[in-house]
Amino acid sequence: MFWVSLVVVLFVGALLLLGMFRRRRSERGADDPHGVTSPRHWERRLLLFGGVVGPLIVLAVLWVVTLRDVNFLAAPLRSNMLTVDVIGRLWWWEVRYPEQGIVTANEIHIPVGQPVRIRLTSNGVIHSFWVPELAGKTDMIAGQTNNMWLEASQPGVYRGQCAEYCGRQHTHMIFFVIAEPQATFERWVQREASSVPAPAAANLTRGQRVFETNACAGCHTIRGTTAAGRVGPDLTHFGSRRTIGAGTVPNTRSLLAAWVVNAQSIKPGNLMPPVPLPPDDVQALVDYLESLK
Ligand code: CUA
Repeated sequence: MFWVSLVVVLFVGALLLLGMFRRRRSERGADDPHGVTSPRHWERRLLLFGGVVGPLIVLAVLWVVTLRDVNFLAAPLRSNMLTVDVIGRLWWWEVRYPEQGIVTANEIHIPVGQPVRIRLTSNGVIHSFWVPELAGKTDMIAGQTNNMWLEASQPGVYRGQCAEYCGRQHTHMIFFVIAEPQATFERWVQREASSVPAPAAANLTRGQRVFETNACAGCHTIRGTTAAGRVGPDLTHFGSRRTIGAGTVPNTRSLLAAWVVNAQSIKPGNLMPPVPLPPDDVQALVDYLESLK
């Protein structure tokens, strides 16, 4: 389109200069008073071709080329793409791999160099899924599934952000796309799809009991335990995640302890109520959650 436009601009520019030059000359020499006002035969043909036929041909060719490219861009690159469902929540991202039986949150692992189909929806207000380095924004709307795909050509961690104002913690609605080599990705799938084994150490057993017998279990799921809440993020492999609160703070022991006791002090307005626990229970709980790799 650029080169065709360039040729057209140069051609029209040259005709314009030629016209100005010829007009001045014919104004000076009055030997042919009708030459300016009555077009000659070849001038009519030039007008017909340059003004009607030429543009029609050029536009038709560009139209066909554009249609071909638009079709190519819209078509799925492969029929057997990995599919990931992402659901916008207040204010975090539920991430599901329906074929692999994985439920996680705020981190999307993908194999590098492969297009991945992303199906987007929301369970409430409108959010917008945006990984600036990998793809444009796509809205997440309750009751509707929007399809997009993304592909990372380099391994790495790509930051994503909600791009549609969705309430108080819209800014802290962050996620990460983690692009890994195929073998690493497959190991992650295998681990992530599995339930957690019964804890081996005493403090971890205590931590699991604290989780199951307090408010935690009402909102969160840890597969392999009795905790099966569906309000908050699935925590089955929480210890392997990078952040707490959808990218709000790094996943460290001290921040996790602070989050459990009063998440409102870290991410005001989020749906997790304060959980007043004795310090020993908090420590056991933190040990347990961080052990869930
Ligand atoms: Cu979700 Cu902004």
